[in-house]
Amino acid sequence: MQFGHFDDEKREYVITQPDTPLPWINYLGCQAYFGLISNTAGGYSFYRDARLRRITRYRYNNAPFDFGGRYLYLRDDDAGEFWSPSWQPTRHKVENYSCRHGMGYTIIGSTYKGIEAHTRYFVPMDENLEIWQLTVTNRRATPAALSVFSSVEFCLWDAQDDSTNFQRNFSIGQVEIDDGVIYHKTEYRERRDHFAYFACSDELAGFDTQRDVFLGPYRGWDNPAVVERGAAANSVAHGWAPIGSHHVRLALQPGQSRQIIFILGYHENPKDQKFDPPDSQIVNKKTVKPVIARYRDSANVDAAFEALRAYWEGLLGICHVETPDPHTDRMVNIWNAYQCMATFNMSRSASFYESGIGRGLGFRDSNQDLLGFVQMVPSRARERILDLAATQLPSGGAYHQYQPLTKRGNNDVGGNFNDDPHWLIVGVAAYLKETGDWSILDEPVPYDNQPGSEQPLYEHLQRSFHYTLERLGPHGLPLIGRADWNDCLNLNCFSDTPGQSFQTTTNKEGKVAESVFIAGLFVLAGEELAAIARHRGLEEEATSYLAQTAKMESTVREHGWDGEWFLRAYDAFGHKVGSKECEEGKIFIETQGFCVLAGIGLKDGWARLALDSVRKHLATEHGIVLQQPAYSRYYLNLGEISSYPPGYKENAGIFCHNNPWVIIAETRVGNGDAAHDYYRRINPSAREAIGEVHRCEPYVYPQMIAGRDAPTFGEAKNSWLTGTAAWNYYAITQWILGIRPAYDGLEIEPVIPKNWAGFKVTRLFRGVTYRIEARRVGEGNAVALVVDGVPIAGKTVPPPAPGRTEVAVKVSLG
Ligand code: BGC
Ligand code: NOJ
Repeated sequence: MQFGHFDDEKREYVITQPDTPLPWINYLGCQAYFGLISNTAGGYSFYRDARLRRITRYRYNNAPFDFGGRYLYLRDDDAGEFWSPSWQPTRHKVENYSCRHGMGYTIIGSTYKGIEAHTRYFVPMDENLEIWQLTVTNRRATPAALSVFSSVEFCLWDAQDDSTNFQRNFSIGQVEIDDGVIYHKTEYRERRDHFAYFACSDELAGFDTQRDVFLGPYRGWDNPAVVERGAAANSVAHGWAPIGSHHVRLALQPGQSRQIIFILGYHENPKDQKFDPPDSQIVNKKTVKPVIARYRDSANVDAAFEALRAYWEGLLGICHVETPDPHTDRMVNIWNAYQCMATFNMSRSASFYESGIGRGLGFRDSNQDLLGFVQMVPSRARERILDLAATQLPSGGAYHQYQPLTKRGNNDVGGNFNDDPHWLIVGVAAYLKETGDWSILDEPVPYDNQPGSEQPLYEHLQRSFHYTLERLGPHGLPLIGRADWNDCLNLNCFSDTPGQSFQTTTNKEGKVAESVFIAGLFVLAGEELAAIARHRGLEEEATSYLAQTAKMESTVREHGWDGEWFLRAYDAFGHKVGSKECEEGKIFIETQGFCVLAGIGLKDGWARLALDSVRKHLATEHGIVLQQPAYSRYYLNLGEISSYPPGYKENAGIFCHNNPWVIIAETRVGNGDAAHDYYRRINPSAREAIGEVHRCEPYVYPQMIAGRDAPTFGEAKNSWLTGTAAWNYYAITQWILGIRPAYDGLEIEPVIPKNWAGFKVTRLFRGVTYRIEARRVGEGNAVALVVDGVPIAGKTVPPPAPGRTEVAVKVSLG
């Protein structure tokens, strides 16, 4: 069952029924000002940091699930009836409801009793504000006298504090109203130099800023007293809950349309110019007024929208594919690339499943996100890499997370997730391959943000690598620390007390439990580091890295192989995890995917064996589950993984993030059929038709789909912010289609299904557009390249002569 359809031409998903199984959301903004918006206008906004600069309030885990947002009310002033064109919050039986989620914008509209209304929500490029562009049309045969009411509920900035510290917060709310603009200035009088504002293009009939006045006692957003009455109360908030609401009256002749623009923004003033006059407590508005004036004009708003469109047109033009599979094309050309931007921006901080207060930017996550983002805006990838590296500790270890506003490592969570440091190497390698910008390695970067500790980025990579060498366990495998990629495999945390953190309550010494996964990652990262070292002319160093990775590979062969698949780990007692000897959790996906992806077992058939075991034990029609059998009870020695009921999350859920590891692994053993088959199983577009089972958005990947041990097998959860975005993008473009940026050029090595006759890719790479056409000439994967009409040896297209910006590549595959 579907709840809408794709409009590929416009790059939109069109939701045609408001009561989707879950809120289906979109992101507004892609630079500093961000908003989350659901298909019924729910959600919230923030500036840079979803916790520390929350602009509007949102209550998670609400009933209904999604309630509170950017709500507009229309009122028929003759009939005295009111409704919301976005369906929520009044939930009237509107006609022609549609929500078009597009690239950085959302348009929601409907018709009620002949009054058509739709609102285009977006964040203009380079601005710290969002626009709600409302168009109301009278489709009746008679004139209509209408009122429009806007509404936002301001958050008192720190979202965590806002939802807990009520004894203080109920007394600190402050606003100003000036020239019809509502300014939210809580805490501005003392230590903040930023405020929010909510403006309207039209003359106001009134306004409200105190929630209780607007809603009325014992009422909610579905039935505000002011809207019911049809007259704003001009309330000025002192304490309690500051909101913003404008009241505009509209008289529309039959067929007449009117547009009203609402502007919700964030603004900072220089510290010494906070007040105007300077010795007053009045917000200095001189710096923000020109911005507001610009966007009160609909011509400027339209131009800003066109600029946003052009921006995305450019970004999505970087890699464009035409394959025999429409789901592949749609995801690669539009939605998967778009999701990569969201995950890059948010890491795992703010979605409808991540509250924005729990996690800042993850070190591991953000590095992996680069795999899918780096080609889009390399300068931002560069900046992110340097920020991440600056949180690295002198030991080479890493803070697990950092707050984007302060860019400081997060002390609450700390470090000792022993896979973390290697992801920096993986991220930097992806950046170098994409851009060829070797200068980044010489950038001085501090450790733990300590001034004076700066060393070239390259040294950070060296320390990442050595971090593991200095932390090997009894079998010579890497010690796992608090966890590796699987945050829930907590082998040094024996937690028996409710509420303890599985990750940070470390109560074992940590000298025994080892991770085969980190071993695979070490091999991959070590080989990248060797290639980087060689590029820097450090031949000896490169050789020593390769010696270490070879040694690790043989350790894996000796102690990390279980006969038919790779082991997962050794626990704190030295017992195997992910072995046929185990009672449950006999085989895990991570090591099968990652070890093969890193090249382990390719020469001797073990890779094939491991992947056959995946197919036999882990593959389902909805994707590949994380392990089998699921843990049916809590294992003190394994941690959070066994705390989940079977089939969910890390306990045998289909953890989509690591499905692409198996996809890439299948390409490494030359099996394009299996690779694409696995790709298709979790492709959201391909799952659109089973919307009632899948339930999450059909245009973005979820973190998890319930595994076969769960009663809700096939149901997706935690959409949007997941490493799945980058890894799938990377898997399909670089490994199945095989268009792979490499240190010295563009490598082309497709491993596609046997029944594909070919495909086309346009790829902008280091300023050159490569028009690639691949044709099957046989059943195999051997590649023959003809570049601008000239056959070349090997699989790497070298950079063209300076000045050339177009290259045609014909690929014969067989
Ligand atoms: C989740 C993991 C996540 C971790 C972050 C766990 O509860 O299951 O997916 O990585 O929390 O701390
Ligand atoms: C989600 C986390 O963001 C990611 O870092 C982790 O690797 C996976 N969960 C698996 O636990």
